[in-house]
Amino acid sequence: MTTSFDDTELSFDDDNEDIVPTNDVAATRDYDDINISSDAFWSQDAPAREVVFRELREKRPVTWQRPIESAVVPDPDDPGFWAVVKHKDIVEVSQRNDVFVSGYGVMFDLLPPMLLEMAMAFLAMDNPKHDKLRKLVSAAFTPKQIRKIDADIASRAKRIVAEAAKKDDIDFVADISRHLPIEMFGDMFGIPDELRATVAHAADEVVAWADPELLAGRDAAEVQVEAALVIHDIAEKLIAERRAEPADDLLTNLVNAEVDGEHLTDFEIGAVMTLMAVAATDTTRHTASFAVKALTDFPEQRAWLWEDYGARINPAIEEFLRYASVVLTFRRTAIAEHTLNGQPILPGDKVVMMYGSGNWDTDVFTDPDKFDLQRSPNPHVVFGGGGVHFCLGNQLAKSMLRSLFRELHEQMPDFVAGEPNLMKTNFMRGVISLPFKTNVRK
Ligand code: HEM
Repeated sequence: MTTSFDDTELSFDDDNEDIVPTNDVAATRDYDDINISSDAFWSQDAPAREVVFRELREKRPVTWQRPIESAVVPDPDDPGFWAVVKHKDIVEVSQRNDVFVSGYGVMFDLLPPMLLEMAMAFLAMDNPKHDKLRKLVSAAFTPKQIRKIDADIASRAKRIVAEAAKKDDIDFVADISRHLPIEMFGDMFGIPDELRATVAHAADEVVAWADPELLAGRDAAEVQVEAALVIHDIAEKLIAERRAEPADDLLTNLVNAEVDGEHLTDFEIGAVMTLMAVAATDTTRHTASFAVKALTDFPEQRAWLWEDYGARINPAIEEFLRYASVVLTFRRTAIAEHTLNGQPILPGDKVVMMYGSGNWDTDVFTDPDKFDLQRSPNPHVVFGGGGVHFCLGNQLAKSMLRSLFRELHEQMPDFVAGEPNLMKTNFMRGVISLPFKTNVRK
């Protein structure tokens, strides 16, 4: 590793550090009888967790929970957190950025502080800094910009699926779903082809902290920090190249950009690249993997979609997203007193949003267990509950899914997905591998 960072660079997001809110009450609260902090709870898949979430939604929608059982970096002073399971409460926490802030961290698990600096960028910032940095990046994500790259996405999807269709039996993740997000992220940042697999692997490792299979005996904190360093090293090299020779990509825009009259440091740009590498590559891949499994399990839904793909894919994608609900949790910290669904919250309290639970809330979704491609409206909180951190890549993700499934429809309409091998984490509902028959009629 060649990267090193000086103290000035590391102090980038320290706006809130001198005023960390605390309260004396948190340490004295009783924990709820229903424990959703245990490893056992998070090592199950979503349907098993949903049984517990349903009980909480019905009986106690905002509960005080023990600290997470096997935190990556345990904190003996961590008193616990409020678990938020109702759709409307997730929306409230997401949108009340005056009360629930991101600058003290957004991850449910307790991760190495170094990693938070290296990988979270504006996801873990509050305004005004958040908006300034997000604005620089969002120029690459306007609907007009996405329309421009739509044709590119479509041709890449065609090639990826055609390549996979040469074989009868494939792994859907390795052979199809991982490629398109990596290619689009690589194009956006101008990452050379030969480095893309390295960046994608590092992005996987950043979120692999709780899965025993992916960790394979290694120390979670070390794996995460080293993976983030790999991306920072690549960023540093590419930044130097862009300074010498600007290109038409997001990296050049970030190199040239100024925030409050100052250029971003290499570290700051590296952190944006790390955030985006994780945000862009994992989420869409896992959603596509769960969607092919659902289309296999519910043939009548596939038949309905295939009958008029062009007219039906947009509502179908919303249900792919809801049904997969791949981002499981994000956290905020309260900086003011607030009553959430009748529960008083105090400054300093951690609040964790359980997005999957919100997407199964029967106050909003009729028959939520049903994979219903005609579900309308479908106001899922897959991309967050609104507010300033709402997913910047949501249009890009939908565009990639639209193109990918168009190609599956055209090139392998009778595919059969087998049983997925699932990641075990409290952050990402991910598919490690998925056996897949490309075309059973062939
Ligand atoms: C199915 C795909 C995706 C899902 C489920 C997803 C989900 C999310 C969620 C839940 C958040 C946090 C929202 C909040 O805190 O309120 C988020 C933020 C973000 N996402 Fe996505 N995302 C997806 C795809 C993408 C893609 C393709 C990109 C980029 C190319 C991306 C970039 C971002 C960024 C930059 C943020 C931080 C926004 C901010 O803090 O202002 N996402 N995403």
